Amino acid sequence: MRWLITGAHGFIGTNFVRFLHSHTKEIAIVDCNTYAADPTNLADLNLKTYTVDISNYEHMKTIFDLEKPNIVINFAAESHVDRSIEGPQVFIKSNVLGTSVLLTLSLQSFTRFVQISTDEVYGSVEQQGGVAFNETMALIPSSPYSASKASADLLLKSFVHTYKMDALITRCSNNYGPYQHPEKLLPKCIINAHLDNQIPVYGSGLNKRDWIHVSDHCKGIYLAAINGKAGEVYNFGGACCIPNIDLVKKVIHKQQKTETLISFVEDRKGHDMTYAVNFAKSKKELGWQPEIPFEVGLQGTIEWYLQNQKWWKPKVALPYSLQEGTVL
Ligand SMILES: NC(=O)c1ccc[n+]([C@@H]2O[C@H](COP(=O)([O-])OP(=O)(O)OC[C@H]3O[C@@H](n4cnc5c(N)ncnc54)[C@H](O)[C@@H]3O)[C@@H](O)[C@H]2O)c1
Repeated sequence: MRWLITGAHGFIGTNFVRFLHSHTKEIAIVDCNTYAADPTNLADLNLKTYTVDISNYEHMKTIFDLEKPNIVINFAAESHVDRSIEGPQVFIKSNVLGTSVLLTLSLQSFTRFVQISTDEVYGSVEQQGGVAFNETMALIPSSPYSASKASADLLLKSFVHTYKMDALITRCSNNYGPYQHPEKLLPKCIINAHLDNQIPVYGSGLNKRDWIHVSDHCKGIYLAAINGKAGEVYNFGGACCIPNIDLVKKVIHKQQKTETLISFVEDRKGHDMTYAVNFAKSKKELGWQPEIPFEVGLQGTIEWYLQNQKWWKPKVALPYSLQEGTVL
């Protein structure tokens, strides 16, 4: 089976390709290498690599013709909510138009297509009757980022309904682990605590997120790609829903720093209060559940960032600085 993985130089794409590579070597990757990408992440695997924008139909068609993939997993996306609030256009281009190009080409070539979506398409738990998100809930995205992801999900559903296409969606909660860009909340906390810099926290810090280790997510994606049914949605969550401020304090304490580093900043516009994912369907139908306890995964993640300073130091020097508002 030939796999085509888009967005492979980003956080989850990198972790997924490393996981997949232990099962098969028939992998080609695509990434247009935005600020969020690091092409060195996978350099040691010597994979067939295309530096292409997924929203470019002609370029993507050439790749489909050359690679003839049996399965496409789409990680490629603009993924940073704060950036989407500052400038939504590129989110619509990459996340909506880009997904439509991949859907069209996968349909034409009878290729299975897996869209990596997010729990943020469900809005906030408070808007869903106060219960954890399940796959049947309405999509009520709050940010331009989540709206672009929901749009892509709806496009995929329409392709399945109209053309009986072999495509499915996975929706996951907040990932943590190695290779996450340092402008995202957890790496930002780890790095700022390490450097004795202030750690910006949005609003009251009481917004809750459901944390899952990226390797648990990758296993879920693999199972959905192999065993998932066309037209279905599979949720993945970490069963670990905690307020942001508690997460920040854990990171500070694990690095033997003090809470004086915490700096509350003006809240994000339209900030969702709570994300929590019900993954009962994935457990029942895919035999999946998260395995890495949060405290263990968090400790390992902190150690990874402290041991891989050469990886993140050039990234924190870029314009969207560590002093900007906390990201989630
Ligand atoms: N990070 C999370 O916690 C999380 C949770 C749920 C779902 N997701 C979804 O998982 C996917 C991957 O997330 P991530 O955190 O790894 O993101 P990321 O920002 O770290 O990586 C995205 C990658 O996609 C590439 N990319 C962006 N636009 C592209 C385009 N037009 N053409 C080709 N490549 C392009 C980037 O260069 C980057 O390498 C996204 O679709 C995101 O919506 C992420």
